[in-house]
Amino acid sequence: MKFTQSDRLLKLPIYVFAQLDKIKAEQQAKGADLIDLGMGNPDIPPPAEINKALIDSLANPENHRYPSFEGAPEFKNAVSGWCKRQYNISVDAEHEVVTLIGSKEGIVHFAFAFINPGDLTLVPMPAYPAHFRGTILAGGEPYVLPTTEQHGYLPDLKNIAPETAKRAKMMILSYPSNPTGAVSTREFYEEAVAFCRKHEIILIHDFAYAEIYFDGNKPISMLSIPGAKDVCIEFHTTSKTFGMPGWRCGFAVGNRELIEALRKIKTNLDYGLFTAVQKAAIAAMTLDEKDYIDRVRATYQKRRDIFVDGLNSLGWQIKKPKGSLYVWFPVPKGYDSTEFTMQVIAKTGVVFSAGTAFGELGEGFVRAALVAPENRLEEAISRLKKAGFRYNG
Ligand SMILES: Cc1ncc(COP(=O)(O)O)c(C=O)c1O
Repeated sequence: MKFTQSDRLLKLPIYVFAQLDKIKAEQQAKGADLIDLGMGNPDIPPPAEINKALIDSLANPENHRYPSFEGAPEFKNAVSGWCKRQYNISVDAEHEVVTLIGSKEGIVHFAFAFINPGDLTLVPMPAYPAHFRGTILAGGEPYVLPTTEQHGYLPDLKNIAPETAKRAKMMILSYPSNPTGAVSTREFYEEAVAFCRKHEIILIHDFAYAEIYFDGNKPISMLSIPGAKDVCIEFHTTSKTFGMPGWRCGFAVGNRELIEALRKIKTNLDYGLFTAVQKAAIAAMTLDEKDYIDRVRATYQKRRDIFVDGLNSLGWQIKKPKGSLYVWFPVPKGYDSTEFTMQVIAKTGVVFSAGTAFGELGEGFVRAALVAPENRLEEAISRLKKAGFRYNG
């Protein structure tokens, strides 16, 4: 029997990370010592306090029952306190917070709450894949806003035609950016909020790398812009800040109507986040170990410096990214992104992600995730050098 997948599945571009997993498995089977900088999969573990909170909460049988759909009140209070302390934004714990099973889950499902066939979502590219895939799965169309290094990877909103703005239902921004490492300016956020208010577009801000910023330049929350709460929902995660990617814990805050719609979708899909994980996340957001996040940031910053300096010693001329976990760099002449990624894996065992994973405008680039210790990043650079990989303009 032949099973025909739905149009929504058939419309999706190939998931490059799944493809990468296959190639990695083949190399490993051959005994290769891989240095895996492919996925943005944090390797710095959470502090002991968070693990202890999880273990302690397992002892209570109540915590093993179905959680509440929208999140435990204590969790949502902790989120509200965290948002106030970290980003100076006020969110009402009861109406303006929803608990997610990782922020990717929330971002993709959010599209199902608002997108009808024919609706557009404005997505700067290159982009984290879920930013356009959610819209495709929900039957809408991503509308690409090209971004370039020259303009700080911020899209030019003035270039959006009035007919496009009229058809657009949502816009997704995300800074610090995966994959480019770019951060936004306050002025750009003000412009984005004004644009979305004028054209009645939902503004989604994916703030996954809120705490992964460098050189002391702390990014602001979109919700700190006056008037943003009229149009904006902001997605957060414990995955990157607290090294908890496997725990699947995230939350969204912002406009209550948008939060309510996401909650409505989720009541039809899942039973909320495991209570023990919520308890551990409360411990994360109220950590006694005050300098934990500073240490995480300093670790990634040091890795960034080693890796970028290393590439630059091989002919690249890359500026250091200002945030996120990634270094985004052009492939040498004579390669496309996929070919370069494959050759590098085959000849050195170093795994990058081809830039095309982040949309067609990622062609000509690759992304390295800084998820290996310093000595492994040094080793990656020396393997590239030994194999003769250099940037040639
Ligand atoms: C920009 C961005 N948003 C969201 C996510 C997903 O994070 P989570 O683990 O909360 O689903 C990622 C993961 O890499 C990301 O890069």
